[in-house]
Amino acid sequence: MPDSKRPNKAIKVVIVGAGSVGVTTAYALLLDGLASDIVLIDIDRNRALGEVMDLSHAAHLHKARVRVGDYEDCENAAAVIITAGVNQKPGQTRLDLVKTNYALFRDVVPRVAHHAPDTIIVVATNPVDVLTHAAYKLSGFPRERVIGSGTAMDTTRFRHELGKHFGVNPRNVHAVIVGEHGDSQLAVWSLATISGMRLRDYCTAAGIEYDEKALEACATRTKEAAYEIIRRKGKTNYGVASVLVSVLQPIVTDSDAIMTVSRVGSYAGVEDVALSMPCKLNRHGAYQDVPLLLSEEEREALRRSAQSIKDVITSLEEHLKPAEEKAEATEKPEQA
Ligand SMILES: NC(=O)c1ccc[n+]([C@@H]2O[C@H](COP(=O)([O-])OP(=O)(O)OC[C@H]3O[C@@H](n4cnc5c(N)ncnc54)[C@H](O)[C@@H]3O)[C@@H](O)[C@H]2O)c1
Repeated sequence: MPDSKRPNKAIKVVIVGAGSVGVTTAYALLLDGLASDIVLIDIDRNRALGEVMDLSHAAHLHKARVRVGDYEDCENAAAVIITAGVNQKPGQTRLDLVKTNYALFRDVVPRVAHHAPDTIIVVATNPVDVLTHAAYKLSGFPRERVIGSGTAMDTTRFRHELGKHFGVNPRNVHAVIVGEHGDSQLAVWSLATISGMRLRDYCTAAGIEYDEKALEACATRTKEAAYEIIRRKGKTNYGVASVLVSVLQPIVTDSDAIMTVSRVGSYAGVEDVALSMPCKLNRHGAYQDVPLLLSEEEREALRRSAQSIKDVITSLEEHLKPAEEKAEATEKPEQA
């Protein structure tokens, strides 16, 4: 990496979960040079050790060390990325997946918070919005220090799709996916631009057709990309690893980048939920919303997305209530 991008002090990053996403993230981080100390924590210590041996044999070429650690090693970490968790199995409901991964978070997050009370938690485990909300509650951290990778991944995919459609480098396409990292996400067409021009104006200027159907197909491919990749190779790992490194970049370099990441807040009238909207990121975390002037239709789609995440959070909280409390609630006579 160029020296200008290289952090000038020792930066420790801990990755909890040395599975496919965790290890690919460690490798991307190693190549990027953002961290000087990369620690992997996994319940399967032997697996983590094998991965670390493989990664660390050439780590000196990248001026970083990679090691297996435990929760004590989270102390003074600039960020702790959580990738531990299971993937959705065929036939499994989303709520079942949430219950399993929530149980894991209940074990992991308090330990991270105990050893690294000032760190920034970055959540990648799915369903990422619900678990970002869970990590916020379980850590007791302020909301800017609990960040879900959210639709940063979908936004990158969307720019890739639009770039391909228009024959433009995705870096020159400004367009975002907001809401849930999942089926209710929405593409913000009203604010998408190329070279400072709304897409319709760009088409007029470039003398090309504004093909609404083809553009909708770009958004559909974005939403379905993970399903398609999983169908073909069984998992997704490279894209998300690059995205996680790009989320760490403004944190480590304190550079106020705007990214669509998930954090807890009130969105389109739905309170206490986590979803992705553009946020400013620096060493304090995702510290500031960058409000979008959404169209009426987009605002309603965002509300639906927020509500669908909130429904899962509510079902999870219901499931977690002690049995007596549940019984009491059902026995209570209705108020006149
Ligand atoms: N946010 C995104 O864009 C995105 C993309 C891809 C995958 N994911 C999610 O990331 C998660 C991990 O996916 P993967 O493909 O790496 O799975 P994986 O099965 O390859 O790895 C999961 C790892 O977690 C470890 N683990 C389980 N319980 C643990 C615990 N209590 N403490 C520490 N480690 C524990 C396992 O031993 C395993 O090594 C899944 O929830 C997946 O859906 C998110």
